[in-house]
Amino acid sequence: MARKVFIAGNWKMNKTAAETAVLCRALKEKFADICPCSVEVAVCPTFTSLSAAIAELKGTNIKVGAQNIHWADNGAFTGEISGAMLKELGVEYVIIGHSERRQYFGETDETVNKRLVAALRSGLKPIVCIGETLEEREGGKTEAVLEKQIKGAFVSIGADDFKKVVIAYEPVWAIGTGKTATPDMAQDTHAFIRKVLAGLYGAAAAEDTVIQYGGSMKPENSKELVAQKDIDGGLIGGAALKADSFYDLVKNAIG
Ligand code: 13P
Repeated sequence: MARKVFIAGNWKMNKTAAETAVLCRALKEKFADICPCSVEVAVCPTFTSLSAAIAELKGTNIKVGAQNIHWADNGAFTGEISGAMLKELGVEYVIIGHSERRQYFGETDETVNKRLVAALRSGLKPIVCIGETLEEREGGKTEAVLEKQIKGAFVSIGADDFKKVVIAYEPVWAIGTGKTATPDMAQDTHAFIRKVLAGLYGAAAAEDTVIQYGGSMKPENSKELVAQKDIDGGLIGGAALKADSFYDLVKNAIG
């Protein structure tokens, strides 16, 4: 089964609900000529902007995702959001384990796993983020770090559930820095990730898994990155915050 290119915008903590409506209106117009047969496109605004995005993008080919999910269905977890709450809004995807959550909010492989279980239980499509820091790369630990993150994320996840998961490889040193992994370097790492997945779920399942690249992907480099054999799209930060650059990035990636 050929993997479909999947490009998602991670808006991080940007855009109020009103600003989200404006950006989504612009995206709706721009993306009208992009066929969903060639690419899956999603935007992931912050929680308070999800409703506005869903309302604006209804009936279009642009999907909406959240940036986090709590592992419980409800309860005494002040400030948290459950899968049922996201699902009820009409959210389709959810980002789990982004490096900013690992770095600033105490996310661990264990909590990533718990959130992944909850997302699958809620019928959301998870985008599980993994990636090494600069120190880890320079210390020759990239593969060990990624393998640990992958194995930790997928504890107790069965083969059927695994099929619903998207992986985003985001080298931490490339996020928001303008430093992109070279296409060759990213390809090597993606191939390694697929090998680890094959070890867990078999070669066929690993072959079918969408693995996005994230970290300073922009219109100028999306084509070369997505052209790599094991790079199936992108998780985009800065370049997703403007309709023109997000559109150009997607168009170049699939063109
Ligand atoms: P940038 O595209 O801004 O580097 O961010 C990448 C990212 O963290 C997406 O999740």
